[in-house]
Amino acid sequence: METVVSGIRSTGNLHLGNYFGAVKNFIRMQEEQNCYFFIADYHSLTTHPDPVMLRRNVRQVLAEYLACGIDPEKSTIYIQSDLPETTELYLLLNMHAYKGELERATTFKEKAKKQPDNVNAGLLTYPVLMAADILIHRATKVPVGKDQEQHLEMTRQFGNRFNRLYNVEYFPEPVAYNFGEQLVKIPGLDGSGKMGKSEAEGNAIFLADAPDVLKKKVMRAVTDGGPTEPNSEKPEAIKNLFTLMNVVSAKETVQFFDDAYNNCTVRYGDMKKQLAEDIEKFVAPLREKIEALTADEKYLNKIMDMGKEKAHASSSTTVKEVRDIMGISYR
Ligand code: TYM
Repeated sequence: METVVSGIRSTGNLHLGNYFGAVKNFIRMQEEQNCYFFIADYHSLTTHPDPVMLRRNVRQVLAEYLACGIDPEKSTIYIQSDLPETTELYLLLNMHAYKGELERATTFKEKAKKQPDNVNAGLLTYPVLMAADILIHRATKVPVGKDQEQHLEMTRQFGNRFNRLYNVEYFPEPVAYNFGEQLVKIPGLDGSGKMGKSEAEGNAIFLADAPDVLKKKVMRAVTDGGPTEPNSEKPEAIKNLFTLMNVVSAKETVQFFDDAYNNCTVRYGDMKKQLAEDIEKFVAPLREKIEALTADEKYLNKIMDMGKEKAHASSSTTVKEVRDIMGISYR
């Protein structure tokens, strides 16, 4: 059995990108592996969220994890800040993480550009905290979307550096994982890039979106005037619509619109209507469960306590051993 770790930031509700990039794998992996899934609340602090919103978002993501089918009996579900050992390992790893390599991380460069007035140390050392999240359970598999690939590379680098420096074989090498396939990137609805919570309004479809909101977003998705030559290459925005359709619609549906595109008879209005219907079919049962779970304060508290205890068993062992390896044991 392998140890699996993954997390999602508590910056807002889960969207289809989170689901198909990460959560879908969590659900499958919990059947066979020793899984730790957490809510990365510390990571969300880099943007200074309002305390009331932070609390709301953490509980919302927890409810969404559960609604999607992450089973607290099969896997360990916890909140990042409930494990002080992660923070300690983060501090220790920071001593061997260098300014140059942290500044070169793509996510750091992007974030620094996006929030030039708030380039804080937490943003710079974001990948070190992420490495600590993974190494704290000495995980080997990390189900994530394609955008996290570089962070995983850095995690391996920090783990290997530790092993080398202290001449031990302590941390295994974790790999970014998608069930039997390549890592996934779900596109947004604005015609470019990926689906994300901090992208433009209307770019992301959230699992908890109301039916009319969802439909409006899809119907507004960027398209073009349609193909004029048979079998022509699809522009980015159209490819994105097909990618979305591929994850929520039946194969025949995708084939139908693909054929229509290739013989220049495609009607984007019809395609988007179909896509909206198929997304609605997919999220409707989740939406109901999310609503019921967010209302159940007591149950969510119980799940948090249970996860904290289970995760602590593993994290306390790792930190004790790391301290011993580094010589931080003076009595
Ligand atoms: P976050 O919160 O941005 O995203 C959570 C997960 O969803 C995936 N994802 C996507 N996958 C495909 N297409 C998309 N459009 C898309 N958008 C998001 C992400 O790849 C991710 O798997 N740093 C992490 C959270 C984290 C973490 C960790 C993950 C903290 N510590 C340790 C794994 C292990 C993040 O910001 O994810």
